Amino acid sequence: MVQEVHLLCKSQIREEQMCGIIGCVCRRDCVQLIYRGLARMAYRGYDSAGIAVCTPEGIELRREHGKLENLKTRLQREPLAGCTGIGHTRWATHGKPSESNAHPQMYGKIAIVHNGIIENYAELRQELIAKGHVFASETDTEIVAHLISEQYESSHNLVQAVRNALKCVRGSYGLVVMCADCPDELVAARLQSPLLLGVGHDESFAASDIAAALEYTKDFIFLEDGDIAHLTSQHIEISDLSGAAQNRPVKTIDWDITKAEKQGYPYYMLKEIFEQPQKITDTFRGRILEEEATVNLDEPIEKLALESCSRLQIVACGTSYHAGLLGKYMIESLARIPVDVDVASEYRYRDPIIGPNDGFIAISQSGETADTYACLKIARERGAKILAICNVMDSSIPRASDATFYTRADPEIGVASTKAFTTQLASMLLLAIYIARRRNTVDVGRARELIRALRSVPQQMEAILLKSDDIRAAAQKLLRASSFLYLGRNVNYPIALEGALKLKEISYIHAEAYPSGEMKHGPIALIDETLPVVVIAPRNSTYEKTLSNLQEVRARGGRIISIVTKGDEMLSKVSEHFFEIPECDEFVQPFLSVLYLQLLAYHIADLLGNDVDQPRNLAKSVTVE
Ligand code: AGP
Repeated sequence: MVQEVHLLCKSQIREEQMCGIIGCVCRRDCVQLIYRGLARMAYRGYDSAGIAVCTPEGIELRREHGKLENLKTRLQREPLAGCTGIGHTRWATHGKPSESNAHPQMYGKIAIVHNGIIENYAELRQELIAKGHVFASETDTEIVAHLISEQYESSHNLVQAVRNALKCVRGSYGLVVMCADCPDELVAARLQSPLLLGVGHDESFAASDIAAALEYTKDFIFLEDGDIAHLTSQHIEISDLSGAAQNRPVKTIDWDITKAEKQGYPYYMLKEIFEQPQKITDTFRGRILEEEATVNLDEPIEKLALESCSRLQIVACGTSYHAGLLGKYMIESLARIPVDVDVASEYRYRDPIIGPNDGFIAISQSGETADTYACLKIARERGAKILAICNVMDSSIPRASDATFYTRADPEIGVASTKAFTTQLASMLLLAIYIARRRNTVDVGRARELIRALRSVPQQMEAILLKSDDIRAAAQKLLRASSFLYLGRNVNYPIALEGALKLKEISYIHAEAYPSGEMKHGPIALIDETLPVVVIAPRNSTYEKTLSNLQEVRARGGRIISIVTKGDEMLSKVSEHFFEIPECDEFVQPFLSVLYLQLLAYHIADLLGNDVDQPRNLAKSVTVE
C-alpha cells in the first residue's frame, strides 16, 4: 500500500490544504457532476459549500452555510443548469463560516473557488479599496476575484487575466476561475496547494482531490507549482506564470473511491502522520519574520499583551494537554514567565486561582471539548485574558475566547491526534518566541537560531517518515508485549506521555509514561525482560541524566527502544531497537521524536488488526463531561 503512494508523487499528497474544489466544463449538465464531486470530498470536513454555473444570463450562484445537504435543499428549491461550473466545500481560514464567506466568490463577471491562503491579502485589499472596490466577504479569496476582474476588463483574455492577477499574489493556492463571457472555458492555477485535472471524453475537470472526479475519469494530470491550465470540453493547455507552455503527463489512476479519499493510505491516521511536514509549514505561514528574528501574530493576540501577564495558565485534555505541558517548558525557559498546566476535568472543580493579571490558554483540536470549554468560562468569569489554540475555525472555544491562534492542521479525521499535536507544538514554540521577544528575555541571536531550527523541522520530518517500514519491522517484534513504559526528561517527558497515549488509544496495550528521573521512585519495579521501555534520549541538556536512567533499565534486563541523536553509538548499542533524529535544537527535538512514537503505535495497532481510525470506546471530540 505505502509503496503505491510513492508512485503517485508525494508532492500531490503532502501539500494538502483542506477546502475541496472542483470545476467542470462539458457538453452535458454539470450541476449533478459537481455536487457529487463535492460529496466525495465531504470526508475532509467543511463548514459551508457552494456551486456556480455559466448560463446564458451570466453566472448563477448557490451557496449555503453548514452541511452539504443545505446546499442540496437550496438546489432543489432554486435549480441550476449549465455545462460549465465550479464548486467548493470550505474549511474556513480567513473569515468565519457563513454564506457570504462561502465559495464560489464573485466579482464582476468572475467567479472563483480557492483552496489555500493568500498571505498578502490585507495589503491587496487596502490597495483595491483605495481604488473604490467594495468587498462582500471577509475572505482572502474574494481579493483574487477582484484582481482577475480588473485584469479581464482590460485584456478580455481569461488566461492572461488570471496570470497577471496571480503575479500580485503571495501565498498558496489551488484555484479554478470561471467567466460569464467564456461559457466553455475554465482556468485553473496551482501554487503549494493540490490541484489536478481530469481528462474526460468531451469534458475536462479540475479538482483538489482524485476522489472528486474519479467517478468521471481515471485519467489525471497532476499540476506542478506555478502551473496555469486552460480547460475547454475538448482540450487542456498548461503554461506557467510567464506564459511558457508546460508539458504534464496524463496518469491513469486505478483506485476505488474509498482508497481515493485516503489518497492511497490504508488509514486516515497514517495519511495525517505523513501530512505533518506540510501542516507545520502551513502553521508557520505568515507568522515568522525572519529578518526581524521574531514572530508576527494576529492583532487580537497582540492586543491581549500576554507578555505583561504575571502568570499563564494552560488547560486542555488528552493530547492537547501534552502539547500544553511542552509549551510550559518552552515559554518558561524562553520568556521567563511562570506557566501552570492543568488537565481540564480536574481544573474545573478545583476552584482555581486565576484573575485579571493572568493569561488563560485553552488548547483544543476540535474546539468543542466540554471540560476545556467549562474551564474557559471559569477563567472568563474571574477576569483572565483568554487565548485559544485551536484547529477548527469558529468552534465553541475560539468563539468564547478573546483571541485564537489557529493551528493549520486542516481537519483531523483519525481519532488518535497526530498532525494537530505537532501543529500545537509549533504554536507553543512560536508563542514562546513571541512573548520572549516582547519581554526581551531572548536576544536576536537566540531567536534567529530558534527560528532557523523551526524552519528545518518539515524537511527533517520528511526524512524520518521515510523510515516507516523500519518502524513496522520493530513493531512486528514488540506487538505481543502486554505493557510498555515510556521515559523522557524535560521537553521529552510530554513526548513520552504522548507516545504512551497513542499506543493505548489504538493498540489497546497498557502503557505508562514517567519522567525518567522518577522511575526509581516506583515504576522501576515493573522492569523485567518482558517489558519494552521506550526511552527518548537525544543529546541535550539532560542527556547524561537520561543515560544513567537507561543503565538502570538495562541492568534489570528491560527491552530498550531508544530515540537517539544520529550517530549515538553508545545508546544504539544497548538498545533492542533505536531510532535516530538529527542533531538539532532541544526545542525542536520533540517534533521529530514524536513521529517515531506515532508510527510505532500505528504499526502495532495495524498489525494487531485494529480499526486504527475508529478505535473502540473513543470519540474524536468529547463534548460531554
Ligand atoms: C488524542 O489522540 C485523543 N483523541 C484525545 O485525547 C484528545 O486529544 C482529547 O479528547 C482532546 O481533544 P481536543 O484537542 O479536541 O480538545
